[in-house]
Amino acid sequence: MQVCQTADGSLTLLDPQSGQSYRSMHGAVTESTQVFLQNSGVAARLSAGMPSSVLEIGFGTGLNFGVTAAHAAEHCSKLHYTACEFALPPVSTIQALWKHNLPHSMPLLNALVTELNRPQATDNCKAALSEFVELDLRLSDANTCHWPGDFFDAIYLDGFSASRNPALWQQAFLEKLLPTLRQNGRLATFGVNRAFRQALEGAGFGWLKKPGPPGKREVLVAHRQA
Ligand SMILES: C[S@@+](CC[C@H](N)C(=O)[O-])C[C@H]1O[C@@H](n2cnc3c(N)ncnc32)[C@H](O)[C@@H]1O
Repeated sequence: MQVCQTADGSLTLLDPQSGQSYRSMHGAVTESTQVFLQNSGVAARLSAGMPSSVLEIGFGTGLNFGVTAAHAAEHCSKLHYTACEFALPPVSTIQALWKHNLPHSMPLLNALVTELNRPQATDNCKAALSEFVELDLRLSDANTCHWPGDFFDAIYLDGFSASRNPALWQQAFLEKLLPTLRQNGRLATFGVNRAFRQALEGAGFGWLKKPGPPGKREVLVAHRQA
């Protein structure tokens, strides 16, 4: 993996073989903030002091987590963040990117690094990282994870694209996600193609297109129909 600077100055990782980056080359922090933190409704919830629970599929470098956790800390609001990841980048890489991208959130990074370096963090990393932020990171395949019903205010669906990682965009996986979302919860993602939208409908979601961040015309937000 290569570390790359994106157009807003923030860093992400690029897989030189597939040409796929973890975040948009048009702006990594910009994309995390708009597509996930804001579109999911989590920014508004945390700003209003509402405790919020997020499920992320594809923790990657932890940028979505860091942007969300920083917002929770800024507004003194409680965040419970569950994530799964089957190929965590080296902790030193997560650390280097975070120092550059989120320099005002170093105490949270230090707490995260301490937890990731514990021996039991090969399977699961579950800890209160601050007064406001709890992380439950499962280091396994999202297809084999189970989550409680009616629990999450938001789902960040952030595996690689459907062309590289089709299973996460198909109806069977979306049917697993639907019951974990609270009735007023939202699923936020960058994927927007017709096959994905049909899979969402088949699984019981409604959806709405939203303007995308730089470099992407549209992204998507979904909600429970059932
Ligand atoms: C686009 S990157 C995620 C970027 C990340 N959210 C961030 O803020 O840096 C996609 C991530 O999803 C992970 N992933 C893909 N399929 C997965 C699966 N079935 N289970 C768990 N993790 C998966 C990949 O290993 C990769 O780290």
